Amino acid sequence: MPNPFNIGVIPDTAPLCDRQTELDTLKRRALDASNVTLYSPRRYGKTSLVKRVQAQLRAEHDVLTIYADLYRVTSAEEVAARISKAVYAALHRQEDLSAKAKRYLGALVNFRPVFKVNDQGEFTVSVERVGARPAGVELLASTMEYLGEFIENYDKPVHLALDEFQEITEIQKKNEIEAALREQIQHIHQASFFFIGSRRRLLLEMFASESRPFFQSTFLFKLEKLPKDDLVDYIVSRFAENGKTCDPQAAAALCDVTHCYPYYAQKTANYLFDLAESKAGAEDVQKAFDSVLKEEADFFKAVLFGLTLKEVRLLRAIAKDNTPSVFSADFAKLHEIPAFSAQKPLKKLARLDLVEQVEGDGGRYRLVDPVMATWLRLT
Ligand SMILES: Nc1ncnc2c1ncn2[C@@H]1O[C@H](COP(=O)(O)OP(=O)(O)OP(=O)(O)O)[C@@H](O)[C@H]1O
Ligand SMILES: [Mg+2]
Repeated sequence: MPNPFNIGVIPDTAPLCDRQTELDTLKRRALDASNVTLYSPRRYGKTSLVKRVQAQLRAEHDVLTIYADLYRVTSAEEVAARISKAVYAALHRQEDLSAKAKRYLGALVNFRPVFKVNDQGEFTVSVERVGARPAGVELLASTMEYLGEFIENYDKPVHLALDEFQEITEIQKKNEIEAALREQIQHIHQASFFFIGSRRRLLLEMFASESRPFFQSTFLFKLEKLPKDDLVDYIVSRFAENGKTCDPQAAAALCDVTHCYPYYAQKTANYLFDLAESKAGAEDVQKAFDSVLKEEADFFKAVLFGLTLKEVRLLRAIAKDNTPSVFSADFAKLHEIPAFSAQKPLKKLARLDLVEQVEGDGGRYRLVDPVMATWLRLT
């Protein structure tokens, strides 16, 4: 029996848990040619959701959907290349046989598409630079200008998703890159852009701070965790569809230990499915979750490795303690972290999206990743 629980981006053919309202809203924004900033902590399901939005836009509204991943992008040229590649890949997928597509294949002038067949017999698309000029940020600006022209002349609506968009703030000439993108995108009215990312601080600073080029240029859309009732139903029915059963109480226990965090819920359910011979019970959930904790430990350790001792100490203290404030006398005494020396590490942990302030709870901080908090409490 195939394991139905997926630990990567959910394929278009597999069911999503919940997210119907989100799908409807995001589709509406896309069809209105509005721009959206979609953000959440890591592994909440942004990419899965956007891919589903795009699949439905293609199927239901004949929209040309372009998806570019900017993960670990290192230069303005690479941003331009990745966007160009995404445009050609979209045209290739959606318009393969039409003459029109061929007409558009040189649309982005600075880059030409290269199509190859890989060992599995699938087409892969890459891009090749045409000429040496313009270069750097100018190349990006020029590519975006061609993209604008292409969209204007294209006879279908266009949707562009720029995933891991905050990565542009981590590269050299980031201010010029941000300004160049904004400058061009503001003139593109016939397309909808989604800017997606999990470094919420970086992304929100870009779109919600007055001094930045993208200020107030998009709808801000925060993706939440999955609702427990839907997640229980999803787990129970996916077991049933694949020849096993899961006791609803076990599914509810799984939601509790994973805090309905999409990635950890899927991963624990994946282990639970393999563990259960025919029926998963509440006693199996802890075993499955222990395997997840064990597997994630290396990742958590790597996160700690990138922090200073003070930051690790504060992170551990926040994971272990529910006191109202890290600046309170009790907290300082218990963890031997005086208030004055908590400020700097706290700022860094918040910037890295490792901790967040709980809304309306007297300034209390918690870890953004509740499973990391569980691991820290146990180690
Ligand atoms: N609606 C959903 N129903 C069930 N599982 C989901 C859902 N959305 C996401 N997941 C699960 O959550 C995990 C993360 O999904 P995805 O990669 O789409 O998230 P992301 O927010 O883009 O992550 P990242 O921050 O790493 O880019 C995957 O294991 C996926 O199976
Ligand atoms: Mg993603």
